[in-house]
Amino acid sequence: MHIVHTIADLRRALKPATLRAFVATMGNLHQGHLDLMQIARAKASQPGAMTVASIFVNRLQFAPHEDFDAYPRTLERDCELLAANGCDVVFAPSEKDLYPEPQVFKVHPPAAMADILEGEFRPGFFVGVSTVVHKLFNCVQPDITVFGKKDYQQVMIIRRMIDQMALPIELIGAETRRAENGLALSSRNGYLSAEERTEAVQLSLALKAMIAAVKAGNASGQLDVAAIEAQAMQTLTARGWQPDYMTVRRQYDLSLITGVCDEPLVVLGAARLGKTRLIDNLEI
Ligand code: PAF
Repeated sequence: MHIVHTIADLRRALKPATLRAFVATMGNLHQGHLDLMQIARAKASQPGAMTVASIFVNRLQFAPHEDFDAYPRTLERDCELLAANGCDVVFAPSEKDLYPEPQVFKVHPPAAMADILEGEFRPGFFVGVSTVVHKLFNCVQPDITVFGKKDYQQVMIIRRMIDQMALPIELIGAETRRAENGLALSSRNGYLSAEERTEAVQLSLALKAMIAAVKAGNASGQLDVAAIEAQAMQTLTARGWQPDYMTVRRQYDLSLITGVCDEPLVVLGAARLGKTRLIDNLEI
């Protein structure tokens, strides 16, 4: 496995590739990331095909009060894991390598996609994500890219960016990897105390309860989405969480539904447990 730090070295390493399958990460890898790499490897099975992972903690997607400095950097361990999971090239640029001068050209997804849900609570987040992902796509020039559906809104926005910009990339959305108790794996789970880790599963349990209520409402012809959302917020608040949102949306564009709906739906939640903000979602 090659480990490269500059765009020029990356391009050299990838030159012979007949097909490129790419996974973007911020490092501190867990099994969820390795699942993405294994999917990339399986897709890159033709002779000469190469898999690439990027490891870059992207300052542009962190607000000033967020955990950019504290975000765990574990490059050596990440590279060992990637090598064991079929990665051919790791692109681990420094900030100077990827942003040699301030990145003033940015990708601004439309507000209807980017200023809702995560974007409402993390203003500018999806400008930072879209900008770095577009730039990484330009560096790697992948044929295939794999993103985890745990970041559901991120996958939706990147998919739409690929479509609208006619980027010749197939995006694969991978299922969320969960711990045995149902907790969605996340690099930020490392911030949880042992007690919080046990409690953290309540977020996915609250989402499951929302799904049951949506199905019952749709079946009875009376779906009160606002009441289901309020109930989920209240359940978590009563357990000491600070929920940002618990919501039922259309899968396609994460737009609101107001009543009975036969389109594919998803329930999404974000909530703070102690100092840690967790997100999760389940498709219906
Ligand atoms: O999902 C992440 O880890 C990041 O948002 C990404 C896609 C690597 C961009 O920095």
